Amino acid sequence: MNILVTGGAGFIGSHTLIELYKAGHTAVVVDNLDNSNPEALRRVAEIIGIPEVPFHKVDIRDREGLERVFAAQKFDACIHFAGLKSVGESVEKPWEYYENNIGGTLVLVDVMRRHGCKNIIFSSSATIYGDPAEIPITENCPKGQCTNPYGWTKSMLEQVLMDIQKADPEWNVVLLRYFNPVGAHPSGRIGENPNGIPNNLMPYITQVAVGKRQELGVFGNDYPTPDGTGVRDYIHVVDLAGAHVCALKAIERKCGLGVYNVGTGHGYSVLDMVKAFVRVNGVDVPYSIKPRRAGDIATCYCNPAKAKAELGWEAKYGIDEMVRDSWNWQRQNPEGF
Ligand code: NAD
Ligand code: UFG
Repeated sequence: MNILVTGGAGFIGSHTLIELYKAGHTAVVVDNLDNSNPEALRRVAEIIGIPEVPFHKVDIRDREGLERVFAAQKFDACIHFAGLKSVGESVEKPWEYYENNIGGTLVLVDVMRRHGCKNIIFSSSATIYGDPAEIPITENCPKGQCTNPYGWTKSMLEQVLMDIQKADPEWNVVLLRYFNPVGAHPSGRIGENPNGIPNNLMPYITQVAVGKRQELGVFGNDYPTPDGTGVRDYIHVVDLAGAHVCALKAIERKCGLGVYNVGTGHGYSVLDMVKAFVRVNGVDVPYSIKPRRAGDIATCYCNPAKAKAELGWEAKYGIDEMVRDSWNWQRQNPEGF
């Protein structure tokens, strides 16, 4: 299939491009490069072994820009990664998050349907469950109260896409609810490249390990978890990328609406991650316990059985590969791209 990949220069998008080409698909990237670097696409092309990844520097809110991209070629489906994703920033700048994520998606979907492309895979998030009503989280778990505007954009966009699919069953909509993506391509050529001080655990750990930050702050050790620190379902980004290839097969089978958790089903605490990182990589990660971070929940991990049963997808990589590949990327690229 020929796939439009919005946000394809970003962390998850760049890894997904590789899996798409490996599976025999072709891809065209649309990205405004607000949170990414074109060097990522150059390295993706190098890994795939093609001269370049077709790329348009277009903002998905720019209707005319998108029209030009759709006029130039036919797309069988869109994998829609483009969006702003920083939880803390979304609390400071709610308008920017609603306008970019919701406004952008509405323009994208309209241009898609005008051009007869009614297949979309959307990057949703475990955040839509809020403080989850049950653990492990199944897709039947009710959507919860999000603690920040970013989360609400995901929750609202799920509803928008479900309603569009319901009104027009020609649409195939796959909502992938990612848990916590970490790791990097095993080559170490591409990986997560946050701007400024990382918000997320794994890039913070790797920046401490490489000497860019002094120590990791562990946000709370008094949660009702085995060691008191927060538990999450970390998933290797290459596994996550593979889930999109499986979702495309579902679209080829005309799946209508599909909603899937994409995680490993294993919960690891902050200290589990730090200890695994130190053990596997043989580097030190100094840390100290800090107060809880506002909005954090104690435990979040999924039951990924539905994705296995219906998409034939399951995670292959474990915690050792996650911490190995995160470090391999950071070590080789201490300043990112
Ligand atoms: P990322 O920031 O690395 O990638 C997103 C890309 O979208 C960037 O390259 C950015 O420049 C681009 N972009 C943003 N707004 C745009 C716009 N208006 N027009 C065109 N391009 C635009 O983030 P990521 O970690 O790769 O996440 C990809 C998707 O997955 C996002 O939608 C994110 O919300 C979602 N997600 C991420 C996580 C995570 O922890 N990384 C978890 C759950 C869901
Ligand atoms: N943590 C620390 N220190 C840090 C960073 C994080 O102790 O410096 C802890 C957090 O308190 C939490 C765990 O590490 O217990 C994971 O935190 P992350 O910030 O890496 O991830 P979150 O689970 O908070 O959120 C992430 C994404 C969201 C997404 C959510 C579910 O940032 O966008 O996963 O997919 F919605």
